[in-house]
Amino acid sequence: MTVDKVYLVGFMAAGKTTLARALGRRLGWRVEDVDDRIEAREGRPVASIFARDGEAYFRQVERAVLLDLLPIRDAVVATGGGMRPAAPRINRRACGSTDRASPPKGSSNRSSRQWTRDVRYLVLSDIHGNLEALEAVLADAAARGYDAALVLGDLVGYGADPNAVIDCIRALSPLAVIRGNHDKVASGIEDAEGFNAVARSAVQWTYEALSPEHREYIATLAPGPQFIGEQIEICHGTPFDEDAYVFDELDALRAIESATRPICLFGHTHLPIVFIRSGDGLDLAGADGEATAHVALATTARYLVNPGSVGQPRDGDPRAAYAILDMAARVVELYRITYPVETAQFKIREAGLPEVLARRLGVGR
Ligand SMILES: [Fe+2]
Repeated sequence: MTVDKVYLVGFMAAGKTTLARALGRRLGWRVEDVDDRIEAREGRPVASIFARDGEAYFRQVERAVLLDLLPIRDAVVATGGGMRPAAPRINRRACGSTDRASPPKGSSNRSSRQWTRDVRYLVLSDIHGNLEALEAVLADAAARGYDAALVLGDLVGYGADPNAVIDCIRALSPLAVIRGNHDKVASGIEDAEGFNAVARSAVQWTYEALSPEHREYIATLAPGPQFIGEQIEICHGTPFDEDAYVFDELDALRAIESATRPICLFGHTHLPIVFIRSGDGLDLAGADGEATAHVALATTARYLVNPGSVGQPRDGDPRAAYAILDMAARVVELYRITYPVETAQFKIREAGLPEVLARRLGVGR
């Protein structure tokens, strides 16, 4: 048997292109990057294809490209971009506008490596079953434009719409979604040890409210940290422990030291903030309660960024919080937006969830 082709299969930014080039040099074979061919064929970045048309469409184009490559010999083929199996596009109506993602930015035919550096990420965390807050955030983010979404966990728990929120997130086809502590308990893969009485009651309600399909979805979410190329990693709590909290500078220092990427995105505390490690110092930014805060990202510093909570803010400001991380402009944009809190409160009361969960949404605590 004569081997005339090698396929390297791995997730996006897993390093397969680098390996393919090294292998190609050693064997004297040509190197084919399937993502590059897909981008050339579609005239837009892979992230944009995922965000706007979903993984099913991406795979369809990928199959066509792989068929084109079938006759060639003596080649190393890098393929398999994407983060996880296809997510069906469902229940669009529950998510408001169907046109949330921005048009692709910049010129077409950029290489995968280039878009990984240039992409504009929507960063969502701690949605906690609050559909009204999520819809408002997605509408606001669509107007500002983004290429791909990152979700930092706690999709459910506390709020009255866990199934609809999961549908909404799946319809976004995020580049990455990781699990939070509430996702683990609400899906039944971990017990509620460490939860207070209210959280325990809400998570029990959520477990029963979730359809088997939705329960399965959050049960199989990846744990943090997950890596997005060479610059970014995402976690729910910290890189060293997915359930640990970062509340103060000491926590932040430990988390930054344990991160393997210069920009670490985290959630869990429901408090928007940016910790900046520059030299021996640690600075804070973005926690001033303004509707918008832009924090420039130097290439010489390391960052720990919490976008705040979409669905249950706890800093005394009831507005929903989210962030956009723009890798081309090297800036993280923190946003606070109003949403129909009364509707979310009404649904919590109607569902028979603890009254305190409705009240706290009104005061952002
Ligand atoms: Fe949370």
